[in-house]
Amino acid sequence: MSPAIEISTGNDDSSENLYQKGVKTMYENGIEHVPSKYVLPPSERPNVSSPEAELPDLHLPVIDFAHLQGPNRRQALHSLAHACEHFGFFQLVNHGIAEEVTEKMVNVGKRFFEMPLSEREKYMTADMNAPVRYGTSFNQNRDGVFCWRDFLKLICHPLPQLLPHWPSSPIDLRESAANYAEETRALYMVIVEAIVESLGLNKREETIMKEMEDGSQLMVVNCYPPCPQPDLTVGMPPHSDYGFLTLLLQDDVEGLQILHKHRWLTVRPIPGSFVVNVGDHLEIFSNGRYKSVLHRVLVNSTNCRISVASLLSFPFTSTVRPAVALITPTNPRRYKDTDFATFLDYIKSSDSKNKNFLHTRSIVLS
Ligand code: OGA
Ligand code: NI
Repeated sequence: MSPAIEISTGNDDSSENLYQKGVKTMYENGIEHVPSKYVLPPSERPNVSSPEAELPDLHLPVIDFAHLQGPNRRQALHSLAHACEHFGFFQLVNHGIAEEVTEKMVNVGKRFFEMPLSEREKYMTADMNAPVRYGTSFNQNRDGVFCWRDFLKLICHPLPQLLPHWPSSPIDLRESAANYAEETRALYMVIVEAIVESLGLNKREETIMKEMEDGSQLMVVNCYPPCPQPDLTVGMPPHSDYGFLTLLLQDDVEGLQILHKHRWLTVRPIPGSFVVNVGDHLEIFSNGRYKSVLHRVLVNSTNCRISVASLLSFPFTSTVRPAVALITPTNPRRYKDTDFATFLDYIKSSDSKNKNFLHTRSIVLS
């Protein structure tokens, strides 16, 4: 286990130091105003009361997993391709993971954040590769303005090696999170197969399925406590996810928005579903056909929101590049080769918000 970061000094708990301990702690201290560390410049503030998010024509595509597995597969693959091309996001229903497994995961995640800070802060570390990392904001060591989010990040693969490092309390965390990690991984493999097929690639000729068997997997439990001034800050700033796919489980509180045709669209939670999104690696693999889309999280003044994001991709040691069959004279190669080490160096040294990383990998076509 890596050494914990020094947080705060002495016994002063002024709001200036309190923020390093996370937003849950501030909320529990009954904070009435958002400390200046969280206040976004006016141009970056969410327009919480914007009527745009309410436009009825904006709905995320819903993919029925049972259709993908049955006689309607062709049609479902078509819908899948359309969602990945035009939204970069879809909601997955009928996915076959038992409600008990997803409910236990959200529930144990919630109880982790309800434990005393002394229990949670054992896992605070600046080491980005630590098997367990508890923290606040987006990147607490770099962010100029903090965001209204605490998180627990668990690396999940290979599970038997990592499990002993995961928090031992709540007492059921390891079992519930391990079950959940295994089930989401199996589901991911089936979705990747469908994605490969939807791109018109020949499964037998592509090595991707073999590679994914040892693919990376991490899970981030996000906690967004109520915020006294939700119009001044965000739970997560606009960003794209760097993996191949993200499978997001959210409770029934709204907060996630995606950028669609220059407008922010609120993702209405469908109980028991997953929100699945294309990450940077899939955008690269598909040579730009599937889009890794910007998304952000808004907070609110009344409800605590919990979400569990599973980020899955190629092995950490892989090089990510466009599939050879998708590079054609009419659609030349759009991205340079990339790897995880380059990405990790990048986020350590610069701002991982927006799609900055992907832009560093783009080949400008004339
Ligand atoms: C993420 C993310 C959205 C949410 O973890 O990358 O975008 O609703 N989460 O918590
Ligand atoms: Ni994200």
